[in-house]
Amino acid sequence: MSRKFSVAVAGATGAVGNQMIACLEERDFPVGNIRLLASDRSRGRTLKFKGKDHPVEVMDENSFKGVEIALFSAGGGTSQRFAPIAAAAGAVVVDNSSAWRMDPDVPLVVPEVNPHAVAGYTKKGIIANPNCSTIQMVVALCPIHKKAGIKRIVVSTYQAVSGTGQKAIVELTEQMKAWAAGAPMEHKVYPHRIAFNCLPHIDVFGANGYTKEEMKMVNETRKILEDHDIAVTATTVRVPVFYSHSEAVNIETREKITPAEVKKLLASAPGVKVVDDPQNAVYPLAIDAAGQDLTYVGRIREDESIDNGINMWVVADNIRKGAATNAVQIAEILAEKYL
Ligand code: A2P
Repeated sequence: MSRKFSVAVAGATGAVGNQMIACLEERDFPVGNIRLLASDRSRGRTLKFKGKDHPVEVMDENSFKGVEIALFSAGGGTSQRFAPIAAAAGAVVVDNSSAWRMDPDVPLVVPEVNPHAVAGYTKKGIIANPNCSTIQMVVALCPIHKKAGIKRIVVSTYQAVSGTGQKAIVELTEQMKAWAAGAPMEHKVYPHRIAFNCLPHIDVFGANGYTKEEMKMVNETRKILEDHDIAVTATTVRVPVFYSHSEAVNIETREKITPAEVKKLLASAPGVKVVDDPQNAVYPLAIDAAGQDLTYVGRIREDESIDNGINMWVVADNIRKGAATNAVQIAEILAEKYL
């Protein structure tokens, strides 16, 4: 009989935490014992795992005794504080927040791209799950980078509200209901109304005029692809979509690669599905990617404005491949190879 693991999900009641529980179940991860952790606000709640109700426990310093793998998605501040506590208790933390991603002693892993990096977990007992927009982009770009060498990436994102968490899903729903009822639309989560709008503002602005989300795409892409010479520039935009981020990605490669070659490469790339028949209005759509684990790529075409350029449209479910699924895939590598 294969070994089972004691697993904790920190932030179990949140948008990502919920999917982490679902992914563990769907992928039949060898869970021996599960602890579902959240804040004091969730005291008394229960959540289902494999048909059984489990109590949600309030996360504290003692929550990680006996835990072997802790999946965290409870916000940056919470990870900053509790991930080292969980690691000191003997758990390997897979953290979905941005708290540890750029720490040189913490691997930043996308299993289709740099699974070998998982080995670095021993330094701090923490593995970081990358930013959702970055994950889907590197899944699509890694095979091209290996073949033709990517020199520069220009990306614009169209990001779903679920990336902000459960409260943003509620805010968009309430605004749409208010609009349909002819009532005023209120906003608390975002600085402006998100219904029927696009906000070029995800996370906070830095001194260079870019948002933190944009700089995550720059820095995390380089770390995951293990190439610090790639030039990356991003504009990240929140759009009134519930699930799945879409991205217009433009790349300049060192060697010439044609759209047909890109399609062929991506057709056999792990975690990728090419959906590209624009003449028949077939291309990746957020509503089709929602609930799925693949990264969908279409609109693959030459950038005719430069010598070695390709444009493409990349879509994936930000809560699944962009967060929960990627974290559970990392846990699978840990379970199979390292623990
Ligand atoms: P809770 O539901 O009890 O507030 P989302 O990203 O959807 O907003 O979810 C955030 C998740 O992180 C929720 O499960 C939330 O629990 C949890 N969380 C937030 N702050 C803490 C904290 N200080 N300790 C434990 N869990 C937390």
